[in-house]
Order: sequence, then C-alpha cells, then structure tokens
Amino acid sequence: MPRPLKIAPSILSADFAKFGDEVRAIEAAGADWIHIDVMDGHFVPVISFGPEVVKALRPVTQKTLDVHLMISPCDPQLEAFAKAGADIITVHVESGPHLHRSLQTIRGLGKKAGVTMNPATPVDFLEHVIDLVDLVLVMSVNPGYGGQSFIPAALDKIRRVGALAGGRPIDIEVDGGVTPDNAAAVTQAGANVLVAGSAAFKGGPSAYRNNISAIRHAAALARGEAA
Ligand code: DX5
Ligand code: ZN
Repeated sequence: MPRPLKIAPSILSADFAKFGDEVRAIEAAGADWIHIDVMDGHFVPVISFGPEVVKALRPVTQKTLDVHLMISPCDPQLEAFAKAGADIITVHVESGPHLHRSLQTIRGLGKKAGVTMNPATPVDFLEHVIDLVDLVLVMSVNPGYGGQSFIPAALDKIRRVGALAGGRPIDIEVDGGVTPDNAAAVTQAGANVLVAGSAAFKGGPSAYRNNISAIRHAAALARGEAA
C-alpha cells in the first residue's frame, strides 16, 4: 500500500504579517500539512523565523506542523521546536557532524524525525540512519528561498530514497519548485508528500483552493486515484 498523499504548503510563501489568517486559509483550502521553513542566515543565506512562530501557530490549526530546519547547529534548538508544538522535525544531513544523535533526540522528544539533504548530497548519506527516521525530504532546489525552479535530478534521488526505504513506514517528501506540472513526475518517482510554497500561495487566499487542487489532482492521477 502506498503511503497517503499529502500536500504541504510552505508558509515561507505566506503573508508574514498575517500568519494566523494565512494558515487558517490554506487549511480551509485543503492543505494536509503545514510546512514551516526555519532558516538561520548561516546554514542558508536567509533568516526566516524560529520556534516562537511555531508556538504561535500551534493553536491555530490541528494539522501536522512539518518543521524543516535549515539551521546549523540544529541540536541546541530541537527541544524548543518540540515544545513549541512541531509534529515532525526534519534536519539536514549537512547541518552537523552528529546526525544520528540529532535524529535520536527528535524521537526522544516524542516527535517524528525527518532527514533531508541538499541537491548535491548523495542519498548514500542516509544509509546508516534510515531506521531512525519517519520521513525523508528530498530537496529539489538549493534551500534558502521559495520560488526557485525544480531541479530534475531530484526525481532520481526520490527513486533512490524509495529503494533505500524499502518496506519501512517512511514518508518521502519533495520540497522546492513543485507545481501542478511536475506533481505527476515526483509522485511517479515515489514521493507521497508534496511541499508547495509559491504554487500554493500564489494569487492570494481566493486562489488557494484551486492551487492546492491542481497539485493534488495531478498527483492523484499519477497514483491511479481519483481526485
Ligand atoms: C526552500 C524551502 C522550501 C520552499 C518551497 O528553502 O525549504 O520549502 O519554501 O517553496 P517553492 O515551492 O516556492 O519552491
Ligand atoms: Zn522546506
């Protein structure tokens, strides 16, 4: 049985002055998860927001808060994000020397553990931690900004992650440049969680439902499911 399809809009593309309203609107429009991109101006060039924003959004939605940490080091911040109400905490392979420890810490905090890697990092880096994760995120852009173009080599990485995951109960998520036009390809490659920033939030709240439906429809067709 394939893992359920999830569409995860990234609030990096939301209106920062209206985060609560934006999360309510994107949830009402059909979002399954809320993807939260945390950037530190060090691991990636940009600073976005930290655990206080996660804490503020926690009472706004019952949806899974999918926190993608683009910070280095990540270990000192894991407890703060867990206490803030994250459901899934994903760390980068490249963000520190003790990946195994980071993932164990996340699970020890009672959260689902995700791992991700930059486009230039091989999937092989996951081999020795695959039993410690609930989710693998394949970056299909270089992290740091929304609105970049999808890197096609990510499709092969998604397939490799699927082979590595085997029958384990691991979600395979893809992040960066996902649109209705490539949603079928990433789904066929094996991704079941599709992050979308600009493609979900473009056009403002009145467009959100159509934006999400277009991505979901393309992915569902590729899965052989009615949408
Ligand atoms: C990139 C972030 C992504 C990004 C996706 O650093 O991790 O989640 O916000 O935005 P789009 O879908 O616009 O590429
Ligand atoms: Zn992300």
